[in-house]
Amino acid sequence: MMRDKKDKPWKAEYREKLVSADEAVSHIRSGQRIVFSHAAGESLVLSDALVRNRALFENVEIVHMVAMGEAKYCEPGIEIHFRHNSFFLGASTRKAAKEGRADVTPVYFSEVPELFRTTLPVDAVFLNLSPPDEHGYCSFGISVDYSKPAAMEAELVIAQINPSMPRTLGDSFIHISDIDYIVEADTPLIELPPAGISEVERAIGKNCASLIEDGDTLQLGIGAIPDAVLGFLKEKKDLGIHSEMISDGIVELYEGGVITNRRKSLHAGKSIVTFLMGTRRLYDFADNNPAVELHPVDYVNDPYVIAQNERLVSVNSCVQVDLMGQVVSASVGRRQISGVGGQVDFVRGANMSRGGKSIMAMPSTAAEGRISKIVPVIGEGAAVTTNRYDADYIVTEYGAARLKGESLRNRAKKLIRIAHPDFRRMLAEEYEKRFREAWSDDE
Ligand code: COA
Repeated sequence: MMRDKKDKPWKAEYREKLVSADEAVSHIRSGQRIVFSHAAGESLVLSDALVRNRALFENVEIVHMVAMGEAKYCEPGIEIHFRHNSFFLGASTRKAAKEGRADVTPVYFSEVPELFRTTLPVDAVFLNLSPPDEHGYCSFGISVDYSKPAAMEAELVIAQINPSMPRTLGDSFIHISDIDYIVEADTPLIELPPAGISEVERAIGKNCASLIEDGDTLQLGIGAIPDAVLGFLKEKKDLGIHSEMISDGIVELYEGGVITNRRKSLHAGKSIVTFLMGTRRLYDFADNNPAVELHPVDYVNDPYVIAQNERLVSVNSCVQVDLMGQVVSASVGRRQISGVGGQVDFVRGANMSRGGKSIMAMPSTAAEGRISKIVPVIGEGAAVTTNRYDADYIVTEYGAARLKGESLRNRAKKLIRIAHPDFRRMLAEEYEKRFREAWSDDE
């Protein structure tokens, strides 16, 4: 919540607000809702202090998107104290959700700030910030996304001031006068090393990269497939970035002169993102770098803002695609495994962008080749993430299928051709049943 600016010099205010982590969390009350900074931006100093002092609280709701730490607040036996409410399950929170100890709230990433202004009012927020500059402004660093909007709404703002947090630029600052309690601690940020890339992922990366042209503006998600795509872009020219997040692979393309942002139709010369997730290399690259701006997620992920980038190409990943082009990304059958994140925000933005493309990239099989990801019908209980009206390109290691503007019959044909060969017969039988036409492999 924006506080009234006091006349006091900010340095005196800073000193008055300094407390230990244990004291800071003692201001939380049972039954309150706390929002944690997103992903690698989480303050582990504050979340650990909360768990350490759990005897003080009952029924505290912890709202978080991707938890990258250990998420001790949703371990078995702790439920009386904390209830985790996730917008996107990750490795450390999937089990808690599966076992009924955590909740999942479906929400587009772009709409999270509006939830905090309406149906999910924020009692407290835990932040991880850079030290203040000479004017008393701290940067949200690697997590601006919903962290800044949550801080603007929260009744109580508790911040770790962390010299390891880069001072990222953009709409990424908060003034000391808007913070209630300050905890000084220099602790390493959470890092996510680049994923190892398999042969299948390399082939998918190559197929995606063949759809990307000089001068395009890119959105890339996290993981091996986006990293594999980046590996095939080294010969391209003047690429731009307007993406929910970036990871280490981007740094190399900057240094190689591939990403210049020169031809962007919005924010020319700048990469626009809402959070960073990678290693120290990425965090150092973004530190005080005017070529990279972080803005809140209700700006970066707003489909109308995304669409102002001409030739916006989005690359996201999924779990299952049916023969109509319905895309499942966040559940395996009834089991929720992740969340929608910014997928639909960017699919819609790319669809509205002049010359834009949205790519859904996945290996053709799961479970070591035992399961086809292209299926006649989606798994029972699974939720469609990107619907068939929005789906554009589907890419596997066997090629790319453009679905936009294609009939259901042609969609099925194109998808069967990029399915794993072991499953094409099964899918062809479904094709014959559905379209009363013998399957033919000819184009
Ligand atoms: N049938 C059965 N199981 C399947 C499956 C299928 N069709 N597809 C995947 N799985 C299983 C995997 O075997 C794996 O199981 P495990 O955890 O027991 O090993 C699990 O589901 C996760 O699959 P994996 O391929 O390892 O996922 P990933 O970590 O590469 O992430 C998504 C892929 C789709 C989950 C992830 O990209 C996502 O959540 N996307 C939606 C959000 C998004 O796109 N955001 C974009 C902006 S960042």
